[in-house]
Amino acid sequence: MTREQLVAAARAATAHSHAPYSGFGVGAALLLDDGRVITGCNFENASYGLTLCAETVALATANAQGDLRRVTEIAITGGPIGPDGNISGDAPVYPCGRCRQMINEAASLTRRDIAVHCASADGQSIETHPLSELLPHAFGPGDLGLA
Ligand code: THU
Repeated sequence: MTREQLVAAARAATAHSHAPYSGFGVGAALLLDDGRVITGCNFENASYGLTLCAETVALATANAQGDLRRVTEIAITGGPIGPDGNISGDAPVYPCGRCRQMINEAASLTRRDIAVHCASADGQSIETHPLSELLPHAFGPGDLGLA
């Protein structure tokens, strides 16, 4: 699968964003080592701080399916939600700090440097960074004495 196809899956996932408070829709798509794709979108709450990011939703879904060890790449996109319900924007969306740490949990399991594709809502701009570049000196299981 190309990164453009994974970004397309992330863009499609924004259709179900529940973001009435920020008005900012985010979609994430995980690529597994067997070619399957798992998606997620942001899930906001009237108690704002409870909001779940798209990446976290996708990773928790992968975990619930027993697929956390299979994650090899992630695509993220997002932007303001228009009156038509579609998101727009030409700037890549980068994962927030908490999501970088969440991605690191999957990466640590298999010692894979997960590729993170940061894409604009229109899908025209895509930047790929290995997780180690976005989260250098990460805290992980090794710091707890675990492999
Ligand atoms: N958001 C994500 O889903 N992922 C990120 O990495 C950054 C932020 C969401 C949270 C909230 O619903 C909205 O974007 C605005 O912060």
